[in-house]
Amino acid sequence: MLSSLLSIAFLLSQAFAVTQPANTTILGPYGHSPPVYPSPNTTGIGWEEALIKAKAFVAQLTLEEKSDMVTGTPGPCVGNIAPIDRLGFAGLCFQDGPLAIRVADYASVFPAGVSTAASFDRELMHERGLALGAEFRGKGAHVYLGPVAGPLGRSAYAGRNWEGFAADPYLTGVAMEETITGVQANGVQVSAKHFLAYEQETQRIPSVSDADGFDEIQQSVSSNLDDRTMHELYLWPFANAVKAGSASFMCSYNRINGSYACQNSKTLNGLLKEELGFQGYTVSDWGGTHSGLSSIEGGLDMNMPGGLGEYGEYLAPLSHFGGNVTAAVNNGTLDIARLDDMVTRIMTPYYFLGQDKDFPTVDPSSALLNTNFPLDTWLRNWTLTGPSSRDVRSNHSILIRKIGAASAVLLKNVNATLPFKAPKSIGVFGNDASEDTQGFYNQVDWEYGTISVGGGSGTGRLTYLVTPLDALKEKAKETGAIIQQFLNNTLIATTDISTLTIPTPPEVCLVFLKNYAQEGADRTSLDTDWSGNEVVESVTSYCNNTIVITHASGINNLPFASNPNVTAIIAAHYPGQESGNALVDILYGTVNPSAKLPYTIALETDDYNGLPTTAVNSTDPYAWQAWFDEKLEIDYRYFDAQNMSVLYEFGFGLSYTTFELSDLAIAKLSNETITATAAPATILPGGNTGLWENLYNVTVTLTNTGDVAGAEVPQLYISLPSSAPAGTPPKQLRGFEKVFLEVGESASVSFRLMRRDISFWDVVRQDWVVPEGEFVVSVGFSSRDLRVRGGLSVL
Ligand SMILES: *[C@@H]1O[C@H](CO)[C@@H](O)[C@H](O)[C@H]1NC(C)=O
Ligand SMILES: *[C@@H]1O[C@H](CO)[C@@H](O)[C@H](O)[C@H]1NC(C)=O
Ligand SMILES: *[C@@H]1O[C@H](CO)[C@@H](O)[C@H](O)[C@H]1NC(C)=O
Ligand SMILES: *[C@@H]1O[C@H](CO)[C@@H](O)[C@H](O)[C@H]1NC(C)=O
Ligand SMILES: *[C@@H]1O[C@H](CO)[C@@H](O)[C@H](O)[C@H]1NC(C)=O
Ligand SMILES: *[C@@H]1O[C@H](CO)[C@@H](O)[C@H](O)[C@H]1NC(C)=O
Ligand SMILES: *[C@@H]1O[C@H](CO)[C@@H](O)[C@H](O)[C@H]1NC(C)=O
Ligand SMILES: *[C@@H]1O[C@H](CO)[C@@H](O)[C@H](O)[C@H]1NC(C)=O
Ligand SMILES: *[C@@H]1O[C@H](CO)[C@@H](O)[C@H](O)[C@H]1NC(C)=O
Ligand SMILES: *[C@@H]1O[C@H](CO)[C@@H](O)[C@H](O)[C@H]1NC(C)=O
Ligand SMILES: *[C@@H]1O[C@H](CO)[C@@H](O)[C@H](O)[C@H]1NC(C)=O
Ligand SMILES: *[C@@H]1O[C@H](CO)[C@@H](O)[C@H](O)[C@H]1NC(C)=O
Repeated sequence: MLSSLLSIAFLLSQAFAVTQPANTTILGPYGHSPPVYPSPNTTGIGWEEALIKAKAFVAQLTLEEKSDMVTGTPGPCVGNIAPIDRLGFAGLCFQDGPLAIRVADYASVFPAGVSTAASFDRELMHERGLALGAEFRGKGAHVYLGPVAGPLGRSAYAGRNWEGFAADPYLTGVAMEETITGVQANGVQVSAKHFLAYEQETQRIPSVSDADGFDEIQQSVSSNLDDRTMHELYLWPFANAVKAGSASFMCSYNRINGSYACQNSKTLNGLLKEELGFQGYTVSDWGGTHSGLSSIEGGLDMNMPGGLGEYGEYLAPLSHFGGNVTAAVNNGTLDIARLDDMVTRIMTPYYFLGQDKDFPTVDPSSALLNTNFPLDTWLRNWTLTGPSSRDVRSNHSILIRKIGAASAVLLKNVNATLPFKAPKSIGVFGNDASEDTQGFYNQVDWEYGTISVGGGSGTGRLTYLVTPLDALKEKAKETGAIIQQFLNNTLIATTDISTLTIPTPPEVCLVFLKNYAQEGADRTSLDTDWSGNEVVESVTSYCNNTIVITHASGINNLPFASNPNVTAIIAAHYPGQESGNALVDILYGTVNPSAKLPYTIALETDDYNGLPTTAVNSTDPYAWQAWFDEKLEIDYRYFDAQNMSVLYEFGFGLSYTTFELSDLAIAKLSNETITATAAPATILPGGNTGLWENLYNVTVTLTNTGDVAGAEVPQLYISLPSSAPAGTPPKQLRGFEKVFLEVGESASVSFRLMRRDISFWDVVRQDWVVPEGEFVVSVGFSSRDLRVRGGLSVL
């Protein structure tokens, strides 16, 4: 989704034109997207009764109504499909996503994707999905625009990494599945996004030469990647999304191997609808449609938000779709069977989720907050009924606080400085500690104010925010501690703190740092904002017990990590509206930290690979190319393959207690001989069912050996045998479980390995293949703290 701040442009010249043929000189060895036609019909597998209802619905539509059903129109929500009164169809309402219902009042702001991933907690991921789904439903939103598996996190700099989960396809895949089943349990559709290989913001949409945004001079950046990387990294979590029953998929702004994601027949028809057996509909990201027939035949089922032109001056009903679809059917260019399939794909999940029965109306207050479509832009008579400003927050603050604490990663804790032993004097430093001075709708990197979520369309409208300073003061009422704060980073960074008047010298100094990120721009630095490093330097020269807390979109440089006066570091990411409460729970030990980094923090800025393409030296319209030459080597896969030391590795996070692992055992789950590939089978949603078959059960014993109760996350990493093709990462996450244990308690923890988990994608066989030879199965507390190992030969 685009934020309304950004203007978008459509590629008029390419409407109903054939997709630009690949120029192999520009595109190189893998920058070519092979054609896959026709777009397969849905067979409604798993949704059989709903398919019958959808077909009956489609049978009653006129051609014009069918065209309307696949084309957005201005209305109360950020995306709208018009009602058809004569059939009792109330239309469809699409809302952002993914951490809150954004265009709404009296709704909760949940922890961001990156925080949710850091919890490594399946149950909390699911509960968050359930709560989000309940809020969307309460506000009358049929479709939740989320969750996000693209960006995956190829680059530390990508502006939207925080909207997604982790720089690892397995963890992201699990988070997708748990979120989707949670949201859809409320009868709300998800739109898994952004499909596919959307790994940078720079040049995500075409550059234009005119103010209206119609004269495109350079096309969107093309993510150029090979077939193996596609399957093993970027497509992987989306396969979980199909398996989990996603109603829809949103195609992204970028090109993929030279062809726009929303008209890319290889990714939409080939990978999504054929290989993964996706039965629902694809919808364009807002403004991501660049053609009519090419997109429709390439696999796009719905064009959002529908019109042509910039935000704010909508020219709908003029659209690549809409009236053009009607005309194309009438003149024989477009087979009506394809249009029927598009509408059938849209209506099948609608019936499956029971949206034809008792679905709440769109809250009128959302319509008034919708800056994409002010009331005077509406082309239809949209009757808004039902109570306005419905409060859908319920008791979700409890869950938000719980996830906030469960996702705060404790990176350093020297001499058990945490949890607090009742300090009587606490110094608070940094502009991230306190109230936002410029409002609750965070779309700018305000100097003063704690960051609880990122900006752009993936933000939320806070109804309240518990800041760290608020929560510390509240706690101080109980403990009697004195809290003294300095919030001006310039002052802190440029002043000798010992010269400031601090009536009671602090026993502990808390420094709050932040980095802001939002869609539309990649980060230009991995440092925290507002001279964060200098702030820490200044405070540590005065205070030998300094605890640094970051509120950040993801990877940050932490040059102070080895400073002996920095006694603890907590990466709290974007925790949502209960930010301060969740942090105080950790600081005072009410909650024992158990979160893990969902990415790697390198030693040096220059150590990161996969940098975004930020400039081109050519005026060629197709010049913007992002070569995914690192292939499978992103994040820990890269640092491991290059044998590089890192500061804090993927999966790392401390606890106030200690744990041990023992007794790794591997059991085969069936006596049948395992073959190298899954037997050919009917494709169900998620692909060949054999890929999802559990083949092995790995068990370990986890013991809490410390003196505090707490949760730990044993992580299973697999190393494929040497017979696997070159470029196979040294190890890959293939299991994790968060387990809570009392002091001295032990538990057996089991992980199931599916066929996909022990296979690589064979580009010649075009199948997942289990390699011959000895696998190493390791379980530990991070990607570099592996405690127990076992061997496994499959074939
Ligand atoms: C392909 O691109 C190269 C480099 O821009 C250019 O020299 C060449 O003429 C192009 N070939 C075609 C067939 O367009
Ligand atoms: C889809 O179904 C229609 C109607 O049965 C049929 O005419 C059309 O050929 C099918 N399309 C594909 C791609 O199978
Ligand atoms: C059809 O699409 C073209 C651009 O592709 C647009 O200029 C025209 O207005 C559209 N027609 C309708 C009826 O939407
Ligand atoms: C059919 O209609 C479409 C949409 O208006 C138009 O782009 C295309 O040129 C027409 N084709 C023919 C053969 O008339
Ligand atoms: C819009 O619909 C309402 C309710 O059906 C009706 O009362 C009203 O007259 C309609 N307005 C217009 C402009 O059609
Ligand atoms: C940590 O404890 C050790 C041993 O008691 C001591 O030498 C060191 O100064 C302590 N460090 C800090 C930062 O308190
Ligand atoms: C912050 O401190 C700097 C340096 O002392 C000062 O120039 C600036 O005015 C202060 N800002 C505010 C808002 O007080
Ligand atoms: C640590 O703090 C003490 C004051 O307690 C100060 O004298 C010392 O220089 C500081 N060390 C560093 C590395 O900043
Ligand atoms: C830290 O500073 C405090 C007071 O400023 C002092 O009492 C204590 O000894 C220092 N600790 C270390 C380890 O330097
Ligand atoms: C563009 O050209 C300049 C000067 O030759 C060079 O330094 C720079 O690296 C080039 N940038 C890209 C993106 O190729
Ligand atoms: C496998 O075979 C053994 C020995 O025949 C039997 O005890 C066991 O139950 C079988 N396991 C499964 C999963 O079928
Ligand atoms: C895996 O092993 C554990 C421990 O023996 C057992 O409790 C669990 O049921 C097994 N899982 C499967 C799928 O067999």
